Amino acid sequence: MSTIDEIKSRIDIVDLVSEAGVKLRHAGKNYTGFCPFHENKKTPAFVVWPETGTWRCFGACNEGGDIFKFVMKKDGLDFREALQKLAARAGVQIQEYQKETPQQKEAYENLRRLLEDAVIYYRSHLFANREILNYLREKRGLTDATIETFGLGYAPPGYDNLLKYFTAKGYSEQDLIDSGLLSERQDESQFSNLRSFDRFRHRIMIPIRDEQGRMAGFGARVVDPNDIPKFLNSPETPIFSKGRLLYGLDRARKPIRTADQAVIVEGYLDVIALHQAGYENVVSPMGTALTEDQLRLLKKFTRRIVLALDPDLAGQKAVLRGLDAARSAMDKEGEFAFDARGLLRNESRLQADLRVATMPDDLDPDEIVARDREEWARLIGNAKPIVTHVMETLASGQNLEDPKVKNRIAAQVVPLIEDLPSPLERDTYRQALARMLKVNERALVATQAPASRPRRTRLPAAERAPQETVKVAIAVSSGRKVEEYVIGALFQRPELLYRLDRALQEYGLTAVDAHDFTYTDHRLLFGLIRESVEQYKTEHHDFIVNALPESLETRSDELVRRVANLDQRDEKVLEELLRGILKLRRMAAGENLNQLRFLQEEAQSLEGDPRASSYMELVLQHTRLLRELDEAHRKISRKRLE
Ligand code: UTP
Ligand code: MN
Repeated sequence: MSTIDEIKSRIDIVDLVSEAGVKLRHAGKNYTGFCPFHENKKTPAFVVWPETGTWRCFGACNEGGDIFKFVMKKDGLDFREALQKLAARAGVQIQEYQKETPQQKEAYENLRRLLEDAVIYYRSHLFANREILNYLREKRGLTDATIETFGLGYAPPGYDNLLKYFTAKGYSEQDLIDSGLLSERQDESQFSNLRSFDRFRHRIMIPIRDEQGRMAGFGARVVDPNDIPKFLNSPETPIFSKGRLLYGLDRARKPIRTADQAVIVEGYLDVIALHQAGYENVVSPMGTALTEDQLRLLKKFTRRIVLALDPDLAGQKAVLRGLDAARSAMDKEGEFAFDARGLLRNESRLQADLRVATMPDDLDPDEIVARDREEWARLIGNAKPIVTHVMETLASGQNLEDPKVKNRIAAQVVPLIEDLPSPLERDTYRQALARMLKVNERALVATQAPASRPRRTRLPAAERAPQETVKVAIAVSSGRKVEEYVIGALFQRPELLYRLDRALQEYGLTAVDAHDFTYTDHRLLFGLIRESVEQYKTEHHDFIVNALPESLETRSDELVRRVANLDQRDEKVLEELLRGILKLRRMAAGENLNQLRFLQEEAQSLEGDPRASSYMELVLQHTRLLRELDEAHRKISRKRLE
């Protein structure tokens, strides 16, 4: 049994959740309660399955997991911390996190000394080789000072140069193997009686140090473009772990702190070129996905991190890669892939500010600083928040009028938005997405796909569930257009608002309210219109224009332009306004009704949940409202025909 399974088997999830202050009630095989992760005292949408040791919130969070996930979310821990906490509780020893012994420390020091010697060795071969030196100077534009500063070197061709040199100096073959400088021969009978050979041959050598400047390993770039791989790194050793180091951090840490910003690029040579150009707050991972460890490392120096990504597949696609697949990455290994969702989770848990800058014209960062030093600063200055970046990347080159395209983009972006911890941010991005896709914001809410509902109750493997159960319903409706029309028309003719209210009342409906509008800008504009009508008897339009906050000026201009060919007859405008409000209310009521029906079914499936009857009450209320709205709609249409 793995350590994780061992811990899971010893901790009862019902105890764990109860101790965290959640009052659980037995409901069939499960327990239900109010979700501790979102504010809601009405619906017990939080379900725990003791048999599988999992939980899930069917409400606003729409998230679930096992005991680890619960503790991570509840206490704001990362996976490793949660593991430690729960291991202690379960009385299970975790092997891998033991501290190093004095003997190990001594051994690591030895490896580092050996690697320092190797830096000198490779350096001397570089300065003895005009051709390679010229490549670095001329093709890559590196100065000798930069070459020295970064300790660049060259590994000559041949299988035993380093081997002979270092064994002659008294190093043991085993140490050379342990440090990663030699590779072990798989087939010992071949060539010689030596069991190992030089790992790096005919390559440019780039020393990699930890954040304290201690040698850890090498990255090695081909000289001959036909050689593969293009970059060969040291193997994982006790002191070289790709996922825990960031290239350049030893030199970048101070500048990062000074600038209160770190920039992550994707290549060693990009780091070097940028430092040379005076941008010293730059580091890179080593050809692997960015890990939580790496972000944590950076966070010691700044919370503001910009990812400068290649424009092509390698970059943006990597960010977008596996939005779904990565959802459970955390449960598996406590490490995130370099994808938007993982980054966002890290961002919120580490309380970091992560942004993305895209490189133009298929250029690498080193090529950008080479062509225009200032351009780099501009690009980094214009870095976008991750969600914005993902939205724009998905939308670029797509026909946004196509409902299928809208759907696909929404399906990828909405889960990211739903994951954001701050309601304000969620609102902002939802609005931005709705605007971009020209859809009603209400349509951009993650809902449960009907088809998978019954399955979920039978298959409570909650941590695997979201992928299958969360579908994004996106009604490509004209709701936004209707709102725009209503606001635009009222903006031009505020005095009609009273008559509109009266007309609504004639049909037994309430006066127009800011909540009739989904979009925040519309709500704000409506508030002004309402205020002007109530406070002043004349000159409404002037009042509104004067009271308009700067941020809404362009928006109101847009809306007014949209109703430019407004029919001037009051009766006609009034009728359109009435129909508009009715349409908005019917759409909203219909959507609410759907949600309520779902909650009701959900409650019924959890046998004997008393909430079922109160949902029923709400469903009835909404059904009634919808009927009234339909009735009014019919009357207006009939009147129009007369
Ligand atoms: P690139 O292929 O973009 O290389 O890989 P680069 O750094 O821009 O190098 P030049 O400009 O062609 O000389 C980006 C990074 O990905 C890792 C390395 O860290 C590299 O710097 N990588 C790439 C590998 O680890 N292995 C590979 O085979 C290729
Ligand atoms: Mn490059």
